[in-house]
Amino acid sequence: MSEIVTDSLPARLLADVEHGLAGLALPASPASLYDPVRYALGSGGKRIRPVALLLAAEAFGGPAARRRALPAALAVEVFHNFTLVHDDIMDRAETRRGRPCVHRRWGEAEAILAGDLMHGLSVRLLGEAETAHGAQARALFDRMVVRLCEGQALDLAFEAQAHVSVDDYLDMIDRKTGALLDLALELGALVGGADGEALAAMRRAGHALGRAFQIQDDLLDLTADHADWGKAIGGDLVAGKRTFLLLRALERTAGDAEAHGWWTRALAGLPAADVPEARDRMERLGVLDDAVRAVETCVRDGLGALGALPGGAAAEALRGLALGLVGRAA
Ligand code: IPE
Ligand code: IPE
Ligand code: MG
Ligand code: MG
Ligand code: MG
Repeated sequence: MSEIVTDSLPARLLADVEHGLAGLALPASPASLYDPVRYALGSGGKRIRPVALLLAAEAFGGPAARRRALPAALAVEVFHNFTLVHDDIMDRAETRRGRPCVHRRWGEAEAILAGDLMHGLSVRLLGEAETAHGAQARALFDRMVVRLCEGQALDLAFEAQAHVSVDDYLDMIDRKTGALLDLALELGALVGGADGEALAAMRRAGHALGRAFQIQDDLLDLTADHADWGKAIGGDLVAGKRTFLLLRALERTAGDAEAHGWWTRALAGLPAADVPEARDRMERLGVLDDAVRAVETCVRDGLGALGALPGGAAAEALRGLALGLVGRAA
């Protein structure tokens, strides 16, 4: 989102989201609850999901639908931030968006509670979204919560599993990451008055773009510039995460006992000092190129599904957002 021209439609929607988040009127006390919530929500995420939701609403229902969709967009962003606060505890992460994670700054108990509060807040915001399809919106949201938690559970369970296939991994990321992107696009389209066929297409687009987004996140976890990334470089390898990169490295070395042994040992989690060697090995194996190609393929699928959008500036901007996932740096 950083390249967006300041008066472009996505930039204006980003400003609406920031303004909406800043206006949430959180109480001052208890500070141990609300300070971490303010910190998490105000720490400058890319806001991709709420902007995508607003663009989908506008594409189907014009500016009036986009204005009606703002509480739903805030609900999605608040929920996303809740998942990040808990994810950082689960992933033993130290930094997020260039600052200490909530649990490093306030403690785990405080971070768990701040997450719980944000979950509740997101449900309240969803209820404020005026839509003729309130029950359907709530059902979509509930489905997302279940899928996202299942995905996070699989992500954790895989850490202790010796054999995880790329298909297992794709199923896991469809839930942990795809579920929220599907929801953003489908909910935006729902508020915009899209018909059943268009809603299904938006869900397919979210599914493909969610895959692209998570594979790129896995790639950047190792290759990003530290200042842009805001998280520890190589954190996934240190934590023993089954990422696209690690699974492809295992696949590509199946016929080479030394190299395969090196990656099999990496399954237990790498010492931070071995991260540069892991990166060199992946580069030589072509694993990093595989990830780039996988992202490109998923984005192409996502753009195909976005073909269901009616024409107009919002649809164009949504396609631009999707294309921006290829080669994004943060
Ligand atoms: C991070 O999401 C979590 C993933 C699903 C990979 P983002 O990269 O959208 O995080 P922020 O909100 O911009 O920091
Ligand atoms: C993100 O997965 C999925 C959710 C937070 C639901 P990651 O664990 O890869 O996200 P980052 O890299 O910590 O942002
Ligand atoms: Mg995680
Ligand atoms: Mg994480
Ligand atoms: Mg990650």
